[in-house]
Amino acid sequence: MKSVLSERQTLHPSDIERRDLPESAARAVRHLAAEIAVTVGAGPEIAGTLSHPVLLRHIDAKYGRLPDAVHEALRPPATDAGVTIIRRLDLGDDELGQTPHNWTQAAAQAGDRAHRCASFELDIAMLLLARCAGEPFGWEGQQGGRLVNNIVPTPGHEHEQSGASSTALLSPHTEDAFHPERANLLMLGCLRNPDRVGTTVSSVRHTELDAAQRETLSRARLPILPDVSYGTGFGDGPAPAVATLGSDACRLTLRFDPAYTPLDDADDEFRSAYRHLAAELERVCLTAALTPGELLLVDNDVVVHGRVPFTPRYDGTDRWLKRVNIRLPQRRRDASEAAEDGYGQRVVAPFRTSRGRNR
Ligand SMILES: [Fe+2]
Repeated sequence: MKSVLSERQTLHPSDIERRDLPESAARAVRHLAAEIAVTVGAGPEIAGTLSHPVLLRHIDAKYGRLPDAVHEALRPPATDAGVTIIRRLDLGDDELGQTPHNWTQAAAQAGDRAHRCASFELDIAMLLLARCAGEPFGWEGQQGGRLVNNIVPTPGHEHEQSGASSTALLSPHTEDAFHPERANLLMLGCLRNPDRVGTTVSSVRHTELDAAQRETLSRARLPILPDVSYGTGFGDGPAPAVATLGSDACRLTLRFDPAYTPLDDADDEFRSAYRHLAAELERVCLTAALTPGELLLVDNDVVVHGRVPFTPRYDGTDRWLKRVNIRLPQRRRDASEAAEDGYGQRVVAPFRTSRGRNR
């Protein structure tokens, strides 16, 4: 499989759609987030999971007040590349404090009034922006159900296939591919990225597959197991086979996570088609090295994302992203996913406006 390492220096290629927020609109996001942060007050009961009803009420009541330019910028990616870079929130490095070593510490710092970093306010900004796009949600089994995840390199997890890793290439994957309620959109907000570490994105709509390969990959052949951030041992129980390729309004979609797919269990024909798809996703890979204040909006039904390897610093200045899962209530998924139980993993979805899954 071709390495994406050579693409590390390909910064913000023109194939990635960009939307620049007017300065006044970006300021309005920070201003409203600060106002809500002061009103609800930082504290572990609020900042721990961000699901406190008082905070949720403020988000829901106020995101509609943000300027039209913000709502316009947060619509789903418009091109076949399936990704958009939104520039940029005004962000000072000195307001962040030290990059935490793990997600637990990040949540604790956000809720520590004495710590006085902007992390909690930026969590609120991320929720406001995500609410403009759709319905932000979390997972009970991931980062304590927190609605905004912190992605930081974590000691002892360097080689994992998870957001806590660093020195290992994070293979291109659909976020939470194992689950029928996975996000339609993924929003990554960059707080700090001093070594310009690249996030990789590959659109299935840029790949070249022949009719036989499409047909093979559209059949449910293999399961996708939960990633290590949800725990281990999921391969021991029943694991439903899922289709790799699907369609939405006759346009190609995908569900792909090779690190958690037991490819050796498939026949030669399937393995060959799957490997071709993986090679194509590498061929069409684009790399975005986000800078502080930039947001990357990823269509999780169309695009797989990953990250190039990097050497963690562990000195308080490491790369730090915030991530939000977003459901688009108007989007539908294949009815065949209805029977999946998602390995018992449950969403935390306080903004859900309609019952049921995306179907
Ligand atoms: Fe991911």
